[in-house]
Amino acid sequence: MKIYAAKDYSDLSRKAANLISAQIIMKPDAVLGLATGSTPVGAYKQLIAWYEEGDLDFSRIRSVNLDEYKGLSGEHDQSYRYFMNHNLFNHVNIRKEDTNVPNGLAEDAEAECVRYNGVIAAMGGIDLQLLGIGGNGHIGFNEPSSVFEKGTHVVTLTEETRQSNARFFASIDEVPTHALTMGVGNIMSARKILLLASGEAKAKAVYDSCFGSVTPNVPASVLQLHSDVVVIADEAALTLVREKTDWKDGIYEV
Ligand code: F6R
Repeated sequence: MKIYAAKDYSDLSRKAANLISAQIIMKPDAVLGLATGSTPVGAYKQLIAWYEEGDLDFSRIRSVNLDEYKGLSGEHDQSYRYFMNHNLFNHVNIRKEDTNVPNGLAEDAEAECVRYNGVIAAMGGIDLQLLGIGGNGHIGFNEPSSVFEKGTHVVTLTEETRQSNARFFASIDEVPTHALTMGVGNIMSARKILLLASGEAKAKAVYDSCFGSVTPNVPASVLQLHSDVVVIADEAALTLVREKTDWKDGIYEV
């Protein structure tokens, strides 16, 4: 695991976009595993800007997103499909049919999870998986638990996650109670992983995930077992790491 320090959110976004661009340039038909949430928005904006300048070509890129709310259609403005279309896909030349998000409206959610695992396998796996992290260490919608779930599965959202996402909905009652998410196994099968963390609310999760025990209680801690993980965190998210280690500058290798 390599940890890169970013000065602030805009530095983090540029560094992340640089690594994603490198992947696109090195492998023009790469499979990108993508995330929603507030953290990657700046990186997506930077990628769009480089695309507009003619530096990036998404025409052969394929993508697979981590998760989707159960019960929301892709047209719902809080669905993750809507988020991806509006924050990235509509602004670059990726073919929509090459972008994948679990279908939140699938009548049989379990069957949709099986289908989604098949989609990832048929694409030959994920070249670069982008991740955000929850304050409790969740990745995708893999919440703290007693087990690591391997494949795509249906989860019951914790009250903490529903409350924290309620700001995007008219009321807490409208926040879905379930979601479909890639499992930890899907994420760990990616050839490279890029985890982004911004803000002090993530400081404990970053420290525990990078330096604590590997436990499903802190889902992101499993990333310590992957051989190619880059964490980019801004100084606010690194507060605890700075306090508890002697790391001053450069790249920290855990
Ligand atoms: C998003 C996702 C979540 C977020 C995490 C952090 O697809 O799977 O795990 O990455 O909740 O969210 P933000 O970036 O909003 O702090």
